[in-house]
Amino acid sequence: MLVLAIETSCDETAAAVVRDGSEILSSVVSSQIAIHAEYGGVVPEIASRKHLEMISPVISQALRDAAVELSAIEGIAVTRGPGLSGALLVGLSTAKAIAFSCGIPFVGVHHIEGHLFAGFLEHPVAFPFLALVVSGGHTHLYHVEGFGRYTTLGRTVDDAAGEAFDKSAKIMGLEYPGGAKIDLLAHTGDNKAVRLPRPLINDGTLNFSFSGLKTAMLQHISKHPVTIPGQEANDLCASFQAAVCDVLVAKTGSALVQSAAQRLVVAGGVACNSGLRSAMTALAAERGVELHIPKPALCGDNAAMLAVPGNYYLSEGYASRPSLDVTATWEMDRIKEMFL
Ligand code: KG4
Ligand code: ZN
Repeated sequence: MLVLAIETSCDETAAAVVRDGSEILSSVVSSQIAIHAEYGGVVPEIASRKHLEMISPVISQALRDAAVELSAIEGIAVTRGPGLSGALLVGLSTAKAIAFSCGIPFVGVHHIEGHLFAGFLEHPVAFPFLALVVSGGHTHLYHVEGFGRYTTLGRTVDDAAGEAFDKSAKIMGLEYPGGAKIDLLAHTGDNKAVRLPRPLINDGTLNFSFSGLKTAMLQHISKHPVTIPGQEANDLCASFQAAVCDVLVAKTGSALVQSAAQRLVVAGGVACNSGLRSAMTALAAERGVELHIPKPALCGDNAAMLAVPGNYYLSEGYASRPSLDVTATWEMDRIKEMFL
């Protein structure tokens, strides 16, 4: 099945053509980051306008790159939520319009479901598996039994890991989104130079909390201002990254025990982080579990990842109704309700 996938949940307008939920024929991502950086974060109204401007050119580019005509597309997978409502509406309305005019089905997919299965575009992972999804809006541990069969084992009670990276970067004077910039500076920093808290690390739950870490960064900077470039800034970045990774590894380790999972998937934008990738590699080796982390280009927001669950749902006959609306918040455990 040839699926056209569309993603507009936040600040990337993306489209992809994927065959059978596994072979990427094209993947186009048009980022708005440079526009939002000026404001220190995503401005929802600007995001919607930019999606409106870019959605048609991005889809046309994806079809051209894949060398397929629109008439060859057999179904559409589109992000239905969670995300910015106005931004999501652009993608969903476009998907509905194309589906209606071409007489093909479309399916509204959960953005995080896309992240979960991004690695399947490299090679499939056998079910069941444990998944840690770390992005700008999510820090969740899921037990995944199959497509649409997710149980949330733990989640952040405040900021997501990516949010913590971006807010801490902003405190340090780094441009939005600062996660990758912290990662880069951390390479030449001493991760033991600054003592930072590991929130909830021993609380006996699988939940996370990162807002205290951001406050600790703020307090540290107010007493010890850093300049960039500079060794102290690098040390602070390395110390911050180690604090986040320590918590993510500890909780994932506990979840592995609790779920008795043999396979671990780490996904989402923060899975690009080099410190997290090596810490998870060490954890998996220590526990003797299979580790799957998509290549960085598939960790960040893209449309191709949506085609994996999209292809499954469409080929099982689970198409969305034309009345489907976007949803800014949506629990993964409740995905099935959409098809009832
Ligand atoms: O999954 P994603 O592209 O978008 C959301 O769904 O949120 O994740 C974006 C998040 C941002 O917070 C960004 O700073 C973070 O992923 N990120 C990183 C790195 N690359 C992206 N965080 C830490 N280290 C990185 N190398
Ligand atoms: Zn995302």
